[in-house]
Amino acid sequence: MDQLVIKGPTKLNGQVKISGSKNAALPIIAASILLNGKTTIKNIPEIKDVISLIKIVEDLGAKCSFKNNIFKIDTSKLKNKNPDPELIKHLRASILLIAPLLVKNGEVRIPHPGGCLIGARPIDVHLEAFKRMGAKIKNGGKDYYLKADKLSGVNVTTDFFSVTGTENVIIAAVLSKGQTKISLAAAEPHVQDLCNFLNKAGAKIKGIGTHNIIIDGVNKLSGIEYEIIPDQIESGTFAIAAAATKGRVEIDGFVKAHHESLLSKFDRANIKYEFLSDHKIKILPTNHIKAIRIRTEVYPGFPTDLQAPIAVLATQASGTSEIYETIFEGRLGYINELSKMGANCVVRDAHQASITGSTPLYGTRITSFDLRAGATLVIAAIIATGESRLDQIEIIDRGYERIEEKLKKLGANIRRVSLKEVE
Ligand code: UD1
Repeated sequence: MDQLVIKGPTKLNGQVKISGSKNAALPIIAASILLNGKTTIKNIPEIKDVISLIKIVEDLGAKCSFKNNIFKIDTSKLKNKNPDPELIKHLRASILLIAPLLVKNGEVRIPHPGGCLIGARPIDVHLEAFKRMGAKIKNGGKDYYLKADKLSGVNVTTDFFSVTGTENVIIAAVLSKGQTKISLAAAEPHVQDLCNFLNKAGAKIKGIGTHNIIIDGVNKLSGIEYEIIPDQIESGTFAIAAAATKGRVEIDGFVKAHHESLLSKFDRANIKYEFLSDHKIKILPTNHIKAIRIRTEVYPGFPTDLQAPIAVLATQASGTSEIYETIFEGRLGYINELSKMGANCVVRDAHQASITGSTPLYGTRITSFDLRAGATLVIAAIIATGESRLDQIEIIDRGYERIEEKLKKLGANIRRVSLKEVE
């Protein structure tokens, strides 16, 4: 168990390079099981979730290598049909293995996945879609068993815009018989990246980036070389961190087209920035940050994964900011930690809170309860006066590549210690 020790306050300054997208890497690695021959995927972030997924795929018998953010996979000789239940227990994204394994082997058995505790997170959308495509499903309490000799293209309505639900249906449909139409499809940049990856391998997916996706099944997908997009949430997190600390930071890998909603909040909050290119932003210091209203929405709305980080900006803004988390019911737990640091917050219910600022924050002992909450508290600790000690940082390692190294380069006083060293 490690702890992050952060001493503040610090204004972040300098340049940072954003890693490859976690939420693109996971479905793309899962989908690569369906490609014939060898596949090379560049810009894969070296984070815990990715390493866990690679272990699962290797355990299935795939030949993999992962060095310098380049992942190579050859799935011509898979020996196991089902993923190891022990390995998939902690990885929510392991549900993305259902589609490729069902298509490849005609059956799959998989336990209910783990992951961040940010709400109930059922998988009914995924299962309903597979059923419509012709799969027989048994839910044995602890695990799901799915069987289908060949899936058929049908019209699928995902009920609401589930991200991994949409991805699972896309992966299942590319080698199915006939045409699949997905309405209420998620359109997030990482969903688009998965589609672009599959199309490069020979799939026929249309409507990419819209809520209506049409997939014409093909007979085979071929191994390819592909480079995934920069991480939308990491770039947003660094932009918020720079703004909240009133620093001056150049962010390479901040894709303008992915961040319309965040930039509109920055404009309202009076955050100054300039674009050096379509993929590079410079955040500039702002003296007077204004309160904002955040309502999380599916893409292109404000991402739920940036809801917690932007709350730190709200603590430094004049006036009352409102937060309405519409997607998950357990994503405001970090607010209690911000309050311990001196923020003036009111949690109204599981979805709504308000933060009144600006208030100084003070270092104390805090805990990260989920991935994005962890990054949020790191930013808060950089602003705070004195020493903060952040527990459960393994959760942050699930999704942010070398976070303390990157922050150190921007001037943060941050170090990782093992708990043995502390107590
Ligand atoms: C993905 C992202 C996660 C992000 C989320 C929303 C990955 C690996 N993870 O998670 O970072 O926070 O999208 O942008 O890409 N739901 C159901 N039934 C289902 C599926 C979902 O009720 O079958 C509910 C969930 O409980 C949640 C909401 O739908 O309340 C959104 O979930 P979903 O879009 O599926 O999120 P994930 O794909 O799990």
